[in-house]
Amino acid sequence: MKNFRKRGVLLLAAAAICAALSGCQSADSTRIVRIGHNQSTNHPTHIALTEFQTFINERLGDKYRVEVYPSELLGSQTDMVQLTQTGAIDFCVASNAILETFSKNYEIFNLPYLFASTEAYHHAMDDESLTGPIFDSTVKAGFTAVTWLDAGTRNFYTVDTPINSPADLRGLKIRVQQSPTNIEMMRLLGGSATPMGFGDVYTALQSHIIDGAENNEMALTDNGHGDVCKYYSYDMHQMVPDILIGNNAFMEGLTEKERAIFEEGFQLINTVQREEWVKAVENAKDRAQNEQHVEFIYPDQGPFMEACMPLHDSMLAENPDLQSTYDAIQAYNEQYPAQTE
Ligand code: GCU
Repeated sequence: MKNFRKRGVLLLAAAAICAALSGCQSADSTRIVRIGHNQSTNHPTHIALTEFQTFINERLGDKYRVEVYPSELLGSQTDMVQLTQTGAIDFCVASNAILETFSKNYEIFNLPYLFASTEAYHHAMDDESLTGPIFDSTVKAGFTAVTWLDAGTRNFYTVDTPINSPADLRGLKIRVQQSPTNIEMMRLLGGSATPMGFGDVYTALQSHIIDGAENNEMALTDNGHGDVCKYYSYDMHQMVPDILIGNNAFMEGLTEKERAIFEEGFQLINTVQREEWVKAVENAKDRAQNEQHVEFIYPDQGPFMEACMPLHDSMLAENPDLQSTYDAIQAYNEQYPAQTE
């Protein structure tokens, strides 16, 4: 990953110089539209962005040429959000967890046990009256969210300690995303939170700097964490979406017709990514179990949930403006409750 980083820094410098000197025009004077993300080229997010690239290049290719940079080539998610803010790049995919540090409104989707089911999660995220005010809350910071992407359910996994209850997390160093909500969640669950960027997790696991991490099943296979971690425990603590954000100045510079085509493209990304996601997770579970020999554990989620619930009250007390969004999510939870087997 270190090499990626060095390369990322070089590319960043190149992108910034290009933006400053030429407004990102290519030799044939089409405007290059750069999108960065931190997943591999097999990942549903990359597949969806590649379809977007084809779509925009076909529809607006005389004026715009989309380029997609995977695998943290343009830096970590935090770096990429900052680059999108300044317009050095035009779009990037960031976990909702990272966006919490740019606008507190994003905290809501980082709450553990916020959504009762995948259906409730998807309906809430598709409800623009609910997401709109959150997606627009960074306008002053220079960027806006244009669509969301599925990142499944986050669960704990460890090198050698099966997690059956929060008590098993005690004394373990668990990597979390760099968000205050995640750090507090780990504190409530009794583990020791070790925040770091996604690209550093594999090496940290391998060198025993951390005992485990938490993520969806794809992290086991696509990022190789399952080569090191042999226990994956379905405590289902979070459904944290990924968010595609765009630089405001770029989007404001589009004509009305171009903007409509870009909007169609954002919708395409959402549709393709979610379809691909379902297949990718099934595939990851199968590979993790049969090739990496990861043991899947199904603990009682009750004690995990109970430990985390104080976070809901403290977030609403600190940010009362989010109460109506929270209530709207609870209504989806009632409509689409957890499936009991
Ligand atoms: C998931 C998510 C990424 C995020 C990563 C992480 O893979 O899709 O956006 O960066 O988790 O844990 O950091």
